[in-house]
Amino acid sequence: MRVLVVGSGGREHAIVRALARDADVTSLHAAPGNPGIARLAETHPVNAAGPGDVTRLAARLAAGLVVIGPEAPLVAGVADALRDNGIACFGPGAKAAMIEGSKSFAKEVMAEAGIPTARSRTCTTRAETDAALAGFGPPYVVKDDALAAGKGVLVTGDIAAARQHAARCGRVVIEEFLDGPEVSLFAVADGGTAVPLLAAQDFKRAHDGGLGPNTGGMGAYAPLPWAPADLAGQAMASVIQPAVDAMRRRGTQYLGLLYAGLCLTQAGPRVVEFNARFGDPETQVVLDRLGSPLAPLLAAAAAGDLAGVEPPRWRSGAAVVVVIAAQGYPGQPVTGDTITINTERTGETTAYLLHAGTGRDAGGALVSAGGRVLNAVGSGPDAAAAREAAYAMAATVQMRGGWYRRDIAAGR
Ligand code: AMP
Ligand code: GLY
Repeated sequence: MRVLVVGSGGREHAIVRALARDADVTSLHAAPGNPGIARLAETHPVNAAGPGDVTRLAARLAAGLVVIGPEAPLVAGVADALRDNGIACFGPGAKAAMIEGSKSFAKEVMAEAGIPTARSRTCTTRAETDAALAGFGPPYVVKDDALAAGKGVLVTGDIAAARQHAARCGRVVIEEFLDGPEVSLFAVADGGTAVPLLAAQDFKRAHDGGLGPNTGGMGAYAPLPWAPADLAGQAMASVIQPAVDAMRRRGTQYLGLLYAGLCLTQAGPRVVEFNARFGDPETQVVLDRLGSPLAPLLAAAAAGDLAGVEPPRWRSGAAVVVVIAAQGYPGQPVTGDTITINTERTGETTAYLLHAGTGRDAGGALVSAGGRVLNAVGSGPDAAAAREAAYAMAATVQMRGGWYRRDIAAGR
């Protein structure tokens, strides 16, 4: 099978790395990819969010499967364009991707399907916003209704800051504060059937101790030894399958990765958010633990035939990923800084680097090209060993202004 992966981040590098191990995959391509991905796949400089560009490339490559990583191409209708042209694609169409693209749409689907989530109100005026903030009380949760790369949510005890964020966003969803540990549960869906992947935990705040602004994710680990043993089963029954069924009833079948961000409250799992794609950086640890081939699973989903494949198997042990970010992230990141990797400094065989926001300068040197630049992934018999391996790998990277959280998976 010839496979094309769309996107250019650490998540796509992890997907490409998993696919590169599959016997079924005869040729591997990425659009546009990055310098790390280029070591495993042929990269093509096309606009990932251009339905026509990606479809022409996939057709020229005679791709048997296209896997879409980021949300922007999904929301832009790249999956629809591919399927309209008879090309198998793992990823929801634009309408189904609204489950991530619009917080209010996701709330509508959840209400219709009886999926447990925070009570909420969608507000467009200042009067509505003030009434909703007063109604729910602190801590205040204010979410930009539109896509904001994981940075549109403000959780604060400060009413003035909550009001200000709402005014900046325009249309917002204001909701009840949920209390409890958060988990990311991914499910592969084919429009009707869904199968869960390994649950992971993401570290969303920029700084140690869960302080600082929200980011796209500064690190993750899997599995979650502390989570209830039946978490995946419970979430499949109360969240994932009802969502897939509701989408089908609406005529917008959900085919692709459905990501449920869950808060494990005293009253059971509650949905914090849905995403229409693999999470980043959770995917990096989930795929590290995958013990069965990825391509047949995604191809079966793309063909609407998930019931016919073996469920994924998981390797024992744990994985941890540490995100190395550029100076300025999650605000405006500094780019163009030279990256030096002193791999000779570590004898690590259980760790590796994935490229996220990297590029090449005119002279061909590796430079930073985004906010989250590299991912150090470590594995081991437990989270502590995996963590040690990941941090040893992170320490081999030198980049001016580069930084990372020191407490990813600490004490887990
Ligand atoms: P989201 O983009 O919706 O996942 O929100 C980003 C982060 O904000 C989540 O991972 C949570 O840590 C936090 N958050 C979102 N909604 C709530 C909520 N209702 N209660 C508490 N924290 C929340
Ligand atoms: N790590 C969170 C996300 O991918 O949205």
